[in-house]
Amino acid sequence: MHHFETIDGVLHCEGISVPDIAREVGTPFYLYSAATLRHHFQVFDQAFSDLPHITAFAVKACSNLAVLSLLGREGAGADIVSGGELFRALKAGIPAGRIVFAGVGKTGHEIGEALDAGILLFSVESEAELELINQVAGERGAVAPVALRVNPDVDPKTHPYIATGLSESKFGIPTRKAVEAFKQANALPHIRVVGMHQHIGSQITEVAPFVEAVQHAADMVNTLRAAGLTIDYLDIGGGVGIPYHADTAEKPPGPGVMAEAVKPLLKALNVTVITEPGRGIAGNAGIFVTEVLRLKQSGGEKTFVIVDGAMNDLLRPSLYNAHHDVQPVVKPAASTRKVLADVVGPICESGDFLAKNRTLECPAPGDLLAVMSAGAYGFTMASNYNSRPRVAEVLVDGDRFHVVRQRENYDDLIRREEIPWA
Ligand code: LLP
Repeated sequence: MHHFETIDGVLHCEGISVPDIAREVGTPFYLYSAATLRHHFQVFDQAFSDLPHITAFAVKACSNLAVLSLLGREGAGADIVSGGELFRALKAGIPAGRIVFAGVGKTGHEIGEALDAGILLFSVESEAELELINQVAGERGAVAPVALRVNPDVDPKTHPYIATGLSESKFGIPTRKAVEAFKQANALPHIRVVGMHQHIGSQITEVAPFVEAVQHAADMVNTLRAAGLTIDYLDIGGGVGIPYHADTAEKPPGPGVMAEAVKPLLKALNVTVITEPGRGIAGNAGIFVTEVLRLKQSGGEKTFVIVDGAMNDLLRPSLYNAHHDVQPVVKPAASTRKVLADVVGPICESGDFLAKNRTLECPAPGDLLAVMSAGAYGFTMASNYNSRPRVAEVLVDGDRFHVVRQRENYDDLIRREEIPWA
């Protein structure tokens, strides 16, 4: 459920018309709905309300300070994977005691920052990382709370780039080595084992892989406890998929269904459950708004709708061949002819597209298009490729909107560059 609705033929975000925002902010821009973010967070959080739990928003999905602050005020924690994300989460006011830090390549510096901040736990991905955390904590006379990330070898049935819990992926410690690794961790003087972590992938649209993974985790927790280890926290990761197609019957099981399926396994464990939803909270809480620059015919039947947004702004279609619905912001007249179109950006690559082979009501230059479900892994994956300033981010809250990140300008592009002989 989201708050992007067409009212009298014009797309609105909550109480504001999208063209009104475009007139003030210019295009392209990301547009987030505060009510949708709050609602989605509450749905995830309530789903586990009968268990001790922390809902740690995956910052990588949408890391704007205003979004993080809004979620933090709702009670969210943060799942971070870098020092930069730690910095953002803290700046946004998310308490360190609700922050968990995953990732296979944490540096000593980042580990130090997280220790100084007093985060809840590190999700540790290898034995070598344990040694480093022990060393960095030792230098501070501190003890680092850790959860070991176990790789359960479960197929999440998603795009291969975003499957993380298969034995061939770089994440986590293989199950057969896990008990040994936990014991090794426990023996280190500056490490305190407090839990276990797993995350099998993203955009998961079936319940079965979650149940299989949580069953695996529950067995593991029992084995670890039998071996004398303390497991107070079980982090079951994120990954709940969202509907990307409004016009089909696509209805992935939502967080409520997923939670009901796994809770019986979790209840008996007597742990604090940590979840790390990213896309499920932010994905359908944001859209990308772009303006049509001109049309062009291909050699064949196809029309290229050339827009001012591009793969540097929204990479998902180019990188994963991901589908995002594209809809006109202002409903065209009923007589408008339909065309088979690719919606493409100005970037000098044939891989630069936002949508391919869509039947669209033929837009005209100056029309606005909304690329839907762009709130997660949209702005956070944007770059300056082709020296394109990154776009603005706008947050609507009721009948007001706020520019929560200004559009970059040309000076921003070269801010840290230098010509040595000038
Ligand atoms: N926890 C961990 C350890 C993760 O690696 C991820 C996502 C999440 C939580 C959040 O997963 P979510 O609930 O958002 O599915 N750029 C890709 C998605 C990459 C996901 C990486 N890890 C995309 O645009 O589809």
